[in-house]
Amino acid sequence: MNNYSLELLENDYTLLYGDSTHLMDELPSGFAHTCITSPPYWNQRRYTDSSDLGNEATIEEFVEALRGIFTKVRRVLRDDGSLWLNIGDSYRNKNLLGIPWRVAFALQADGWILRNAIVWDKAKGNPCNAKDKLRNIHEMIFHFVKHEQYYYNLDSVRTPPQKPTIKNGRITTPTGVSGDKYRKQITDSTDLNDEERQNALTALDGALSKVASGEMPDFRMIIRGTQRSTHSDSPEYSGRAEELRKKGFCILPYHKNGTKPGDVWRVIPEDEWRTDSHFAVYPTELLDIPIKTTCPESGIVLDPFVGSGTTIIAALQRGRKAIGIDASAVYIGEARKRVETWRQQYNQQTAQFSMLDE
Ligand SMILES: C[S@@+](CC[C@H](N)C(=O)[O-])C[C@H]1O[C@@H](n2cnc3c(N)ncnc32)[C@H](O)[C@@H]1O
Repeated sequence: MNNYSLELLENDYTLLYGDSTHLMDELPSGFAHTCITSPPYWNQRRYTDSSDLGNEATIEEFVEALRGIFTKVRRVLRDDGSLWLNIGDSYRNKNLLGIPWRVAFALQADGWILRNAIVWDKAKGNPCNAKDKLRNIHEMIFHFVKHEQYYYNLDSVRTPPQKPTIKNGRITTPTGVSGDKYRKQITDSTDLNDEERQNALTALDGALSKVASGEMPDFRMIIRGTQRSTHSDSPEYSGRAEELRKKGFCILPYHKNGTKPGDVWRVIPEDEWRTDSHFAVYPTELLDIPIKTTCPESGIVLDPFVGSGTTIIAALQRGRKAIGIDASAVYIGEARKRVETWRQQYNQQTAQFSMLDE
């Protein structure tokens, strides 16, 4: 155990000033649960005098520099750890460069497993004066893992199921399934034989009563010749298509703990309201799913490009520890100020709540 890990054991966060390319080598192996970070974008702005990251002459050199940093991150991450990489794109000579995917491919070639490519929909984005293209309002967030088996708490981010409505003894699921449409499709079907038709009606009634008793939150039904099976109609590729071929229908139950989030996240950037000097800040809300799914409570979040400290605050807010590095002394100072201001407000609120309890 070295000084930094001792510091993390004593405090819930650590901020280190310096170049990540070197400082990462000082951190112990396998101690962070997840790394969430947004490195400088290529050729967009100069953050520090001491680091040229983002100012490489060619895209290839930039991709290579990031690949090098994430090799170091890999060592510091636990074997069941994750890397969440937010990275923006750039244009050169009117040409969109596709930098996020170039970096993703380089990391995959290095052995990282890419689990999700998330589109961060910024909803508004910056004004764009170009008359011959659309506004760019999204950025990519990649979720990588080191190994096929990794820590992932999906239940922590599911949207809990809503209750069904029951009116005059008739049930309607939270997404509006009353069974009437399916019942008509089954009865009118020329694709099902009598036995299949009867079985399908029995299964539909069974699904509705499971929703009524709370055993299943919601469901969809696929009926042969009426709906397509989602992925492929070929039984060779899809188990569902095989079930449809054999039985004539399938019931698709929703998960009992609720639906899981999709891979497009609409989150308004903080740049809209921030007044301090840092550019390219991501909002704490953007880190909610990464932290909850891939860092257990009291676990450690790492950000080698911590900027104004958003990752640290997001981690502390959710009961995790955090370690951040930045090559700019100004940003490290700002990050510390921001974290301490947040902590003061948090402590004051907690004190107020405990007085109300007394
Ligand atoms: C896109 S910003 C990160 C913003 C951050 N996510 C936030 O919310 O404030 C990238 C940061 O990387 C830092 N940086 C650039 N080169 C670096 C290096 N070699 N080592 C550590 N930090 C570096 C910059 O100073 C800048 O703060």
